[in-house]
Amino acid sequence: MQAQVTQDGLRPLGRTGLQVSAVSLGASTLGQDRPQGEPPSEQAAETARVMLTGPFRLVDSSNSYGQGRSEAALGAGLAALGGTLPEGQLLATKADRDLTTGAFDHDRVLRSFEESTRRTGLDHFPLYQLHDPYTVSFADAMGPGGAVSALVRLRDEGAVGHLGIAAGPLSLVDAYVGTGVFDVVLTHNRYTLLNRSAADLIDAWAERGLGVLNGAAFGGGLLARGPRPGSTYAYEPAPAEVLGFVERLDAVCREWDVPLPAAALQFSLRNPSVSTTLVGTSVPGRVEQTRVLAERVIPDGFWDAVEQLGTPPVDFGED
Ligand SMILES: NC(=O)c1ccc[n+]([C@@H]2O[C@H](COP(=O)([O-])OP(=O)(O)OC[C@H]3O[C@@H](n4cnc5c(N)ncnc54)[C@H](OP(=O)(O)O)[C@@H]3O)[C@@H](O)[C@H]2O)c1
Repeated sequence: MQAQVTQDGLRPLGRTGLQVSAVSLGASTLGQDRPQGEPPSEQAAETARVMLTGPFRLVDSSNSYGQGRSEAALGAGLAALGGTLPEGQLLATKADRDLTTGAFDHDRVLRSFEESTRRTGLDHFPLYQLHDPYTVSFADAMGPGGAVSALVRLRDEGAVGHLGIAAGPLSLVDAYVGTGVFDVVLTHNRYTLLNRSAADLIDAWAERGLGVLNGAAFGGGLLARGPRPGSTYAYEPAPAEVLGFVERLDAVCREWDVPLPAAALQFSLRNPSVSTTLVGTSVPGRVEQTRVLAERVIPDGFWDAVEQLGTPPVDFGED
């Protein structure tokens, strides 16, 4: 079987007109090596610079990642590049609730946007996403004075290019998709070697013309580092049966000489309905490692051997 992606292979981000690489980079842990309020470390700024330089086209952040330290690190990385993104590079971020009060309405989204512009030094984001809208009801978020009205305003004013919805519970994400307001959808931890619960919805979203970002193909790290005491999946302690499944998966990987993280990444890359797969990192060398993992040639028969392991054990219940 051929590798699933080449270094400069681009694909459309749904109907947005944007082009993305099959792999994108997630900045959720970037900048957290320094306390809140302190300037980004040299390593964080350098990681950001490398992330924004390529070979991958899209970097995904959020107002709330590291209480703003992720965007601040990206701002420092961008400053090292002269304040301008290299040609073709995209920096996406997300609107977040007020982390103190939980407020997530029209005014809060406008403030969230201003904070993001100040930290990054950019005045426009090609993709701007509603992030984890859990402190407000769907009806309030969609209603007059709600968070989504501010997103639409920012888009109509040209401050942002396209709108996305980024969250966990699939029924909630699909409800937002159903409004027709969003051109991009981000799901995470639900289309991986350990959890396939988003598979049908990912197909349906792609069929509707949405760009689909699949985040956390490593489940937040477990499928990159392998099972260890204290391992988590989707940011929660991983139950013993999950660790047992990953051990069996790792054994199949060894048998076929496929690194576990290459299998985990390419599992997502193989899905043509996924526009791009987000790999989270906070160290510069990972960008090149990720490219190598994405290009690793996986032998015929490997995926059948993985399927022989049966249904993965991770279940998000009602999601
Ligand atoms: N609600 C949302 O909107 C939402 C939720 C989840 C994720 N996301 C997006 O999706 C992105 C990816 O998710 P994620 O970062 O949570 O999880 P992930 O990509 O599954 O895993 C990231 C973790 O794996 C480690 N890692 C990456 N490559 C590795 C390698 N080659 N070898 C060993 N370890 C490796 C990283 O460590 P290092 O830091 O040491 O590189 C990091 O701890 C996020 O950054 C974010 O942009 C969005």
